[in-house]
Amino acid sequence: MLNVLVINGPNLNMLGKRPKEHYGSLTLDEINNLMIARANNNLKLDFYQSNYEGDIVTKIQEAVLGKYDSIIINPGAYTHTSVAIHDALEMFNGEKIEVHLSKVDEREGFRKINFVRDVCTKTFSGKLEGSYLDAIDYLNNI
Ligand code: DQA
Repeated sequence: MLNVLVINGPNLNMLGKRPKEHYGSLTLDEINNLMIARANNNLKLDFYQSNYEGDIVTKIQEAVLGKYDSIIINPGAYTHTSVAIHDALEMFNGEKIEVHLSKVDEREGFRKINFVRDVCTKTFSGKLEGSYLDAIDYLNNI
């Protein structure tokens, strides 16, 4: 059994109300349910969403201290600003999968700055909810 922590950062609790051309029309609960449906019996998913940087850091520290085997994280806007989330992820030794709904590397210049990519083991982006499902498929197959 692989214990997987799924973290969503700021404004991702508002999916469904955000610009559909970047983020699609599903709510976060709907995406989480798709992930559960896609996960094989070997994955146990634990979902966490916060709009607060420090709370996300504290949650990642739980994983560092042994509560989880793998992390799937969409840090939202903190992707582009957070040294603290970078430093927390750096300590975690399991699979760390960065996920984005939008084509984050092809948007505004400020979104090209990315503080988490170099400490993650894998990235899936630009496929809306499919990016999260790609992360599940990846973990299903390791
Ligand atoms: C996002 C991309 C970020 O630039 C943005 O701030 C988000 C969502 C995505 O999933 O595409 O909130 O991480």
